[in-house]
Amino acid sequence: MSAQLADGKQLAQSLRLVVKARAAAFLERFGRAPGLHVIIVGDDPASRIYTSNKHRAATEAGLSSVLHRLPAECTQEELLLRISELNADPAVDGILVQLPLPSHIRERAVLNSVDPAKDVDGFHPVNAGALAIARPGLVPCTPRACMHLLSAWGVDPFGKVALVIGRSNIVGKPVAQLLLQANATVVITHRHTADLPTLVRQADIVVVAVGKPGFVRGDWIKPGAAVIDVGINRIDDAAVASGSRIVGDVCAEEVAVRAGYLTPVPGGVGPLTIACLLENTLIAAEARASL
Ligand code: GUN
Repeated sequence: MSAQLADGKQLAQSLRLVVKARAAAFLERFGRAPGLHVIIVGDDPASRIYTSNKHRAATEAGLSSVLHRLPAECTQEELLLRISELNADPAVDGILVQLPLPSHIRERAVLNSVDPAKDVDGFHPVNAGALAIARPGLVPCTPRACMHLLSAWGVDPFGKVALVIGRSNIVGKPVAQLLLQANATVVITHRHTADLPTLVRQADIVVVAVGKPGFVRGDWIKPGAAVIDVGINRIDDAAVASGSRIVGDVCAEEVAVRAGYLTPVPGGVGPLTIACLLENTLIAAEARASL
């Protein structure tokens, strides 16, 4: 068997077109485009690329996108002040503070300061709590991207065993909640889980987000399972001109011959995550306008 690979770029493009049409309808009705404000503090090279990609995608989708670049020495108070200004601005629908933040800034204080109605990352405790009890709220983008992928494959989690490797607040916990809402039987594993391969072999759906290149091996996978690889790891490779390449958390060559469905890295979950951010901004804008 050879797994069906997801074309994350193609799926993202379709979702972006839907967002673009809704953004145009919003502009027509309310006389302004939905507004996304992305804040980056400091010069982390990966974060600069991620935030530029978000800004460009938002602009292309017809959102009003503003990128706030704050210096690495910016104080926590200055950052909180910028967020409170955006919270108070009625033309701002979505606020995203790119992580990681410099070590002198407390991440929790910053994430808690974003108005939950504008929290397009879905990281505020109000939104995390709403997700845990299946109430309306803004849901983190990568977990939403995972559910879009399952749906594109026609894999319905209902009654299936879904296993999530990694218990982060950004991916593992929220994707487990979404799978539970979709009536899967959900197992969350982490670094202290005993005999992970035996558990994985029982799973119809596997979501991996641990940040370890090639961590999930082919013989762990139940034949035909749907495997979503959230990992983005840069590894050295003398065979390529740049000297390094991006790989996921699964050993793709091995898993592809056992799984029924697999997301490639790069080009799987990543592009869809950005499309989900645009969608979240639309959802926030429409909710705030009480459509
Ligand atoms: N850094 C890496 N991933 C993310 C994300 O999804 N949101 C934010 N705000 N920062 C990140």
